[in-house]
Amino acid sequence: TRRITVRDLALAKERGEKWPMLTAYDAMTASVFDEAGIPVMLVGDSMGNCHLGYETTVPVTMDEMTLLSAAVVRGTSRALIVGDLPFGSYQEGAVQALRSATRLVKEAGVGAVKLEGGERSLAQTELIVQSGIPVMSHLGLTPQSVNAMGYRVQGRSDEAAHQLLRDAKAAQDAGAFAVVLELVPAELAAEVTRSLHIPTVGIGAGSECDAQVLVWTDMMGLTGGKMPKFVKQYANLRSTMTDAAKAFAEDVVGGTFPQPEHAFH
Ligand code: KIV
Ligand code: NA
Repeated sequence: TRRITVRDLALAKERGEKWPMLTAYDAMTASVFDEAGIPVMLVGDSMGNCHLGYETTVPVTMDEMTLLSAAVVRGTSRALIVGDLPFGSYQEGAVQALRSATRLVKEAGVGAVKLEGGERSLAQTELIVQSGIPVMSHLGLTPQSVNAMGYRVQGRSDEAAHQLLRDAKAAQDAGAFAVVLELVPAELAAEVTRSLHIPTVGIGAGSECDAQVLVWTDMMGLTGGKMPKFVKQYANLRSTMTDAAKAFAEDVVGGTFPQPEHAFH
């Protein structure tokens, strides 16, 4: 079996086939999603919040991205693995961006990288793509700019909607193979999807996108706390794991674990 490629995703758009993407941050979870047939996994810098205990994605480093991306690549054999370029690893310019992307490909083995911004990341996208590394663009709400934009729906004004369309076109023209649209009104995401020949990947962007992505700890109900409206919860891992941890603790304190069958004689 060979891995999914960006070419497969381009064909899916031509055929009108939708596809799912999930984040993954470790080998074991990634192997579950690989076996479940998830074709594309994103080692998102959401690892900052979901895995490393930071409050935002901003502190995530290239070392952290490289370590966790390598684990996800090792845990999978079929999915295309996309690694996020973390904040500070590409904003200085195209050469810095290429150096960071190259590191993720060589040291972690990812098949593609993702960066935030359309027009503002044009030079970066162009140089990385020209060097042979597929780039996924990320528009709408871009969490690495949280200190400037906050967390709210993007593209609501006419001006912002036009800018989003320009950004999407810029990403496509620069050679991006897909565009993530985060927290964008469904009608605008649909318009972007129709006007691009590359696939759009929605998160809180309605049903008309070519693909959908969710953060795995959110959709599995592991994160805890109030989830944004766009998250559908497919499992409740937090309560499953809480119950299991409590049951283990009770067994140990009460002396009912281990039983003779768990021991060596
Ligand atoms: O880091 C991440 O998980 C992401 C997705 C939400 C698209 O960028
Ligand atoms: Na991200």
